[in-house]
Parts: sequence; structure tokens; C-alpha cells
Amino acid sequence: MQYIGSIDQGTTSTRFIIFDKQGNMISVGQKEHAQIYPQAGWVEHDATEIWQNTQEVIGLALGKVNLSPHDLAAVGITNQRETTVIWNKHTGEPYYNALVWQDTRVGNTVAELEASRGSNCFREKTGLPLATYFSGLKIKWLLDNVEGLREAAQNGEAIFGNMDTYVIWNLTGGTDGGIHVTDVTNASRTQLMNLHTMQWDDEILEILDIPRQILPEIRSSSEVYAEAKGLLVGVPVAGDLGDQQAALVGQTCFAAGEAKNTYGTGCFMLLNTGTTPTPSTHGLLTTVAYQFGKEPVHYALEGSVAITGALVQWLRDNLGIIEKSSDIEDLAKSVEDNGGCYFVPAFSGLYAPYWKADARGIIAGLTRYVNKGHIARAALEATAFQTLEVLESMEKDAKIEISSLRVDGGMVVNEMLMQFQSDMLDVPVVCPAMIETTALGAAYAAGLAVGYWQDLNDLKQNWGIAHTWNPDMPSEQREKLYHYWKKAVTRSFEWEE
Ligand code: G3P
Repeated sequence: MQYIGSIDQGTTSTRFIIFDKQGNMISVGQKEHAQIYPQAGWVEHDATEIWQNTQEVIGLALGKVNLSPHDLAAVGITNQRETTVIWNKHTGEPYYNALVWQDTRVGNTVAELEASRGSNCFREKTGLPLATYFSGLKIKWLLDNVEGLREAAQNGEAIFGNMDTYVIWNLTGGTDGGIHVTDVTNASRTQLMNLHTMQWDDEILEILDIPRQILPEIRSSSEVYAEAKGLLVGVPVAGDLGDQQAALVGQTCFAAGEAKNTYGTGCFMLLNTGTTPTPSTHGLLTTVAYQFGKEPVHYALEGSVAITGALVQWLRDNLGIIEKSSDIEDLAKSVEDNGGCYFVPAFSGLYAPYWKADARGIIAGLTRYVNKGHIARAALEATAFQTLEVLESMEKDAKIEISSLRVDGGMVVNEMLMQFQSDMLDVPVVCPAMIETTALGAAYAAGLAVGYWQDLNDLKQNWGIAHTWNPDMPSEQREKLYHYWKKAVTRSFEWEE
């Protein structure tokens, strides 16, 4: 019996999960890595720590169930998107910590480009507005600020990757012949790839002064890229998807009009829009959903919300009002309602649908009545309000009505949040039996490439519902809550000057 391995290199941890043909989880290894905050707004990861952890969790998951690389038909990779690392291809050493997607240090460059070219100057080609979020400006920052790096990039020693590229390079040999590739979904988040040609765009590279030779080769999301060396020796490395696109695949949203929302560090709703890119005029991103081998590229509209689960972690780590993340639900349930309190977690500015790099977090509506239970509740409600804003934009951009929402990710275990989410969206919220959809999506991509699964129908058969939450809130109450949320959001704007 053979299985599929999946490396999920996320924002807070790295996991290796082994799946069987029915999409059941056979084993998992997981390890967190350090979050490095050198100054306000800056967020970094140590890429070498992440590669160490990747190797450890592979060993851990295989060891738990006594499997060896021979038992794996293929391995797929999925990753936190946009996070940017540049390393030396002869030594494997990164030139600087990885700049994490949440990092806002390129805010000034965003403002300058907005002033000179307009915030949508790259949108037609890349589907993305100017923002601190994407890799292109992070690469530019590294080239402009790390001594000697621009020369190293020009003479071909320095190479760039998102975490998928970095992990694949190491997994396939590193300095001993590692391959330098990415897939169309990850490339679509750099703001350097033309969505219509699936190639790096020379004009944007010139504007940002990024030498083309540091960029990886763009491949499909599902094909055999190379065989692994080291711990997974001989296993075909055959799937690569950004984590949110992987969750879309794991949720088997293969038809235009199908959407999922993943509740993790942030919240990311993706709607499959089929084989032509749908432009957004309501603050969403147009992005690549997946490309399986030589099949046509599928596109998605995406609503990215930077801070949701991260807010719960912040209440735990920075305020200490809960001991562990799961305590949030009991604390929130200790009160009847939010007590008039609204929490806008614009810690990295606001992403969809506002794209305001200068917004900062606020707690609004405070009175002496408000206690930590209300703040916990407001923090959870913020996730649901932000999701509602994204869903409204999606319906307008795609001109469809979403009749139910598939959900996954760590926060879906929170019953109170899921019920409130359904109440605010006024549609059923549906959670599948397998909530590890991100890792599963990468496993699916890898398994399809090697014939472990024959086609998409094989995958659809693995999907089943575990729980549905139905809306149960009078519309006046919903509208009142949303009205105050919107009011609070406007208070967070234009904080940074
Ligand atoms: O775009 C950022 C996203 O890919 C991060 O996802 O689950 O690692 O927080 P996650």
C-alpha cells in the first residue's frame, strides 16, 4: 500500500502529513518556528530554521507509523505565500531572514509607486493592487538594502524563492543539484508574473529593477519536477500550490462558482472563476487557482484578510487574557454579546477589500461596562465581519450569489464563531470531515501527477460534510452589528503617516 506525503510550510509552523487514497490522515509531524519582529511592522522568519524543521517533521511523521520513502508514491508542497527569501546557490545560505507576507516595511515604496503610477498600475497584468503584501517589492527591498546582494543577483549567485521554491530546492539536493522552480499559483503572488501569459513580466521587472535571472522557472502545480534526495530519497516531488489555493483543491472546488474560506493566521476566501481571469473592481485579487499538468489554468477571485487567528494569538501572547488559543471560546461565551465593543485588527494595515497600508488596529466602543469577555468576543466577531465584507465583494465582482460557504482551517473548531459567521453571512457554513484541506490539496496535486488518483472525480469522492451551521439571527440585529463594524473600520484608516 502506498501513500502521498505533503509538506505544509505555513506562517507559524511546518507540517508533514501522510495521506491515504481516501484522503485520510495517516500520520503527522509538526513544528513551530520563531516569529521575528525586529521593529514595528517588520516580520521575519529564519529560512534555515524552517528547512531544519521541515526535515524533522518528515522524519517524525514517517517514524510514527514506521514508513520509509518507498511507501510514498509522491510528495507535494504547499506554503505560506509571498514570504520572500534570497539565498546563495553555492552555499545554500540565505542573505537575510525571509521577509514574511505580513511585513509592512515596503510601505513607503507602495506610497511612492501609488503617487507616480496609481495603485492599480500592475493590476491588469498581475491581478493585484499595489500593497506591502506581495513578493516583488520585498525582493526589491532586499536587493536595495542588503550589502552586496544586488551584485550577487547580477552575477547569478543569488536566487530568489518563496517558501515552496526554497523547500523544493533543498529537498531535491540543495547545493548538490537542487532545482529552482515554482508553480503558477505561487508565481501569481509575486506581482511579477503576467496572469495572461504565465511568464515573468519584463516591464514590471524593469520598473522594480529586479534581475530576471534570480527568479525560478514557472511550472504547473501538478507534474513531476524532480526526485527528492536525502530523507525522501527517490520520491517524486510532484505538487506545488500556495496554501490557500491548496485548500481550494483540498475542498474540491473545481467548478466555477465554488468557494472556500480558510480560517488560519489570516482568512482567505477563494472563488473558482474558471479558465478566464475575472478582474475585480471591489477590492479583491485576481489570482491563479491551479494548473494540473498541461490542463488549462484555472483562476480565482480572492479576498485576503491579514489578521484573524493571529488576533487570538495576540490576545494570548501580548495581552495574556487567555492561556491557550482554545480558551478564547469560553471567554467569549462568558458574556451575552460584544457589549458595544468592536476590534479592527489592522495590524498589517487592512487587506481586502480596503487595501489600506496606513490603517492600524483599534478597539472601538469602549465603556466601563466592557470586560475581557467582550474583547474576546469582539476579536472573534472581527473574523466574521471581515469575511462578510469579502463575500459581499465577491458577489459583486463575480455577479453570483454564494448560497453556502465551505470552511476549513484551525479556527473552524470554534462553534461560536462558526454560528456567528453563518448569522452574519446569512447562508449555511459547511465544514468537511477532513479539515486539513491545505495539506490534502498539495497531496492531491502530487498524487494526480503520478497517477495515484486518476482524475478529479476520484478526489471529489473523498469529500464529505462533518457539520453545517445555519443562519439564525434576525436581520435587524445583523444590520446593526454590521453598521457599527463599518463605523469602527473607518476609524482605523490613515493612522500611519
Ligand atoms: O498569503 C498568506 C497565506 O498564504 C498565509 O497562510 O495559513 O500560513 O497563515 P497561513
